[in-house]
Amino acid sequence: MEFKIASVVLLGLSLTACSQAPEQANSTEPTAAATEQNNGMVVSKDYHSFANPEQIKVNHLDLDLDVDFSQQIISGDATIQFTRVEPNATTLVLDTRDLTIERVTAMGQDIPFTLAKADSHLGAALRIEVPAKVEAVTVTYHTSPQASGVQWLTPEQTAGKQQPFLFTQAQAIHARSFIPLQDSPQVRVTYQATIRTPAELLAVMSASNDPATERDGEYHFSMPQPIPSYLIALAVGDLAFKPMGERTGVYAEPSMLDAAAKEFEDTEAMLNVTEKKFGQYRWDRYDLLILPPSFPFGGMENPRLSFITPTVIAGDKSLVSLIAHELAHSWSGNTVTNATWRDLWLNEGFTTYLTYRIMEMIYGPEREEMEFELGQQSLEADIGSLPPADQMLAIDLRGRDPDDVFSDIPYEKGALFARELEQKVGRDAFDKFLMGYFEHFAFQSITTDQFIAYLDDTLLKEHADKLDPKRIQQWIFEPGIPNGAPMAHSDAFTKVDAARDNWLSGELKAAQIDTSNWNTHQWLHFLNNMPETLTQAQMLELDQVFALTQAGNNEIAHSWLLMAVNNWYEPALPRLHEYLVHIGRNKLVKPLYQALSKTEQGKAFGQKAFAEAKSGYHPLTVKANEGYVE
Ligand code: BES
Ligand code: ZN
Repeated sequence: MEFKIASVVLLGLSLTACSQAPEQANSTEPTAAATEQNNGMVVSKDYHSFANPEQIKVNHLDLDLDVDFSQQIISGDATIQFTRVEPNATTLVLDTRDLTIERVTAMGQDIPFTLAKADSHLGAALRIEVPAKVEAVTVTYHTSPQASGVQWLTPEQTAGKQQPFLFTQAQAIHARSFIPLQDSPQVRVTYQATIRTPAELLAVMSASNDPATERDGEYHFSMPQPIPSYLIALAVGDLAFKPMGERTGVYAEPSMLDAAAKEFEDTEAMLNVTEKKFGQYRWDRYDLLILPPSFPFGGMENPRLSFITPTVIAGDKSLVSLIAHELAHSWSGNTVTNATWRDLWLNEGFTTYLTYRIMEMIYGPEREEMEFELGQQSLEADIGSLPPADQMLAIDLRGRDPDDVFSDIPYEKGALFARELEQKVGRDAFDKFLMGYFEHFAFQSITTDQFIAYLDDTLLKEHADKLDPKRIQQWIFEPGIPNGAPMAHSDAFTKVDAARDNWLSGELKAAQIDTSNWNTHQWLHFLNNMPETLTQAQMLELDQVFALTQAGNNEIAHSWLLMAVNNWYEPALPRLHEYLVHIGRNKLVKPLYQALSKTEQGKAFGQKAFAEAKSGYHPLTVKANEGYVE
């Protein structure tokens, strides 16, 4: 009875709070089409968190943590500050995964808590009874060596081979494996941290990093802008710093530092042009951290400090669109954030669109056209293989692990949608819209439906003659790509297509193809569009003439090794083994394990490589690939 009254009162209050928020006033109503096809889904609900921000909302974290490499645990205190959205709320619910909670205190007193039984996707809810007037609790805890968001590397797994290394990867729902918190992107926190490490190592975070800090094993950080939990990040290792420009620099192991700073020297220029076009950079510095090759992603947009795979250091800047991408997240993602993982396309689609724009501004339209065409090919391949329900921009993830639903849809389909809007209203008008969008929703987390409401109020109103709301619904809530969507075309690929065709028909020997001026993108286009099967003689000819098994560029090597698996081209297998054991970036290894799993001999090969590589892979890469080697 008591509970009932309380919840009615609370509901009333939270509705009032909602309608008072001016920036949300026009944005909370889901559109008819969205509601209809959501069959019971609440569009603003985060189905991947147990937290209760609608009652009590965390707004600041103070971390005081020790990093213990010998036990592979992080331990210490997380002090969690919150405000009551419902004044009478008494329970704070946090997310955890594989954490040991030692005690919870408030104002020096122990307070009661319960840790629920763990759900395999979501971890375990931590319920803390917070006395009235208490506005902060301190959770004393430690992580598990198996924490899904932390990778502990031995010295042998680093470039320098002398010191261990640690890094975290919180997106999408792994922050809870190293900090007890409300692990939902709709909860934004500022944070401060003290991190203690072995004295010879340096700690860096997605926060203020003082490049000149004394290396003494105790480091202090502050993130004054409110960020979602998936952007909290920590790395510890034998790191050195080199500036690249006024606001940009790179952290890496000493042996990688110069090569990285050279490869990414255009970062400062990227930052400057993006700011000019799309509005101020709101995060002070922009640095890069180069991780060991087991980093499971290409990059991660941790604010002020993007985490970057070393596999893109190609020597010729051919893969630096990754940097443009992570930088662009400073606007779409970090400033305006997806409210739930259903809305991921708001982060990745606009970021992919901005990436193309940045590449065009820095390297010119020819390069942009090639990258767009490769992106479109990759999208079409995904559309050919994904079930319709997974081809929508706003995707129903209820009951699923967001890690399992990773595809080109939020990225390339999202970017294509943005490109279509640009083409319909004109570039200047669209740039103005984007700048206004980042400004309007700065430091907020928004749903797809809030985005649509904003679009309705702005671009659609101003360009009613050029935009059709039904088509926008189709882009967002229907599978596939609407007819008449923008099409990529690169002149630089035309001659590559001709060379491939002539070689396949036997008119031309590989040695007669003039590849002397081909760039990485042209090579990727040449290889990615080969027929599914080639003869051994054809594979051998390509390899002998172009030395593809020895390709130093990791993307080209990937495309070639995939062909080698599909055609079981044995001379490339030792390189394939080495590649799989050395690299843990999931996008590069997963398609190879998947292709290997299709034949008996391939599967045996994959099993052997995986068994050898597993201890060096990140937990996410293990999880994504173990199904192929069972
Ligand atoms: N934020 C993503 C990585 C991510 C997405 C991690 C979803 C977990 C869940 C990052 O910005 C990204 O998109 N990385 C890509 C870069 C590429 C598209 C240029 C990657 O790692 O491949
Ligand atoms: Zn991204």
